[in-house]
Amino acid sequence: MNTTAFDVTMWRKRAGQYSSLGWVQDGSLLQPLAEVAAELSLGKGNTYLDIGVGSGSVLNLLKQVIPYALGIGFDISPEMLRSANGLAGSIFIANAYQIPLLTNSIQFATMRMVLHHLCDSERAISEMVRVLIPGSTGVIAEYIVPDAKTLKFEEKVFALKEPGRKLWTPRSLHSLVKMQPGLRIDKIALAVMPQYSVRDWMGKSGLPQEVQDGVLQCYLTAPPAVVDSMGITITDNNDALVDRPFSYIVFTKK
Ligand SMILES: C[S@@+](CC[C@H](N)C(=O)[O-])C[C@H]1O[C@@H](n2cnc3c(N)ncnc32)[C@H](O)[C@@H]1O
Repeated sequence: MNTTAFDVTMWRKRAGQYSSLGWVQDGSLLQPLAEVAAELSLGKGNTYLDIGVGSGSVLNLLKQVIPYALGIGFDISPEMLRSANGLAGSIFIANAYQIPLLTNSIQFATMRMVLHHLCDSERAISEMVRVLIPGSTGVIAEYIVPDAKTLKFEEKVFALKEPGRKLWTPRSLHSLVKMQPGLRIDKIALAVMPQYSVRDWMGKSGLPQEVQDGVLQCYLTAPPAVVDSMGITITDNNDALVDRPFSYIVFTKK
């Protein structure tokens, strides 16, 4: 099975409870995106694009912040789009590796929590840059891992969860975006979702029970350095609560 087929199948299984995940519901993680959008003064005649819409939190947020611009978005998974409880924008099925939009056609683009699911992140960023009009803004928002030691641990956990995925520290994510041709990084914002329940994350993941248990077990038995850097707390009901930092890289297409 190729990766795209794998992803479509995986997201079909995940769609059921996705929109009720704690981090998806957390408004403070959307705040940095809202602030960037509000500063752009986009209105009638402008179009913004959300890549990997999922259940629509970003698209729906942008509709509130820039109500007169036209919102469009796409996702590889029809089931994820169907899981949305109303979507404030026109949506279509497409692959981030080959966006079916004209070069230089979009005034603002967002891609939140998609990159780490992609095997070819460079290609997705280059497509994002291609469709933006020169001088326009893009935001890549990603889960990050605080430091190199924790990265090794998280890579093992994510390998259990979804083989072949990538994770970044703040520095390596910055380098990845910076090295893409045709863009200039303007700003990096950070937000943390404190003490996020691994049981919530896993319970709504659509993953097989043995994978869910394996992932939880990793956090329950994490080495002290990781416990420290991720602020892991073990609760009485054997859950692990983890601080989850997110990075928002704001760039301009040159
Ligand atoms: C973690 S969810 C994030 C959804 C949404 N952006 C949010 O912040 O709530 C990742 C989304 O990326 C989509 N996705 C994964 N691979 C993709 C690809 N190659 N092209 C487009 N969408 C993709 C998945 O179907 C899923 O809806």
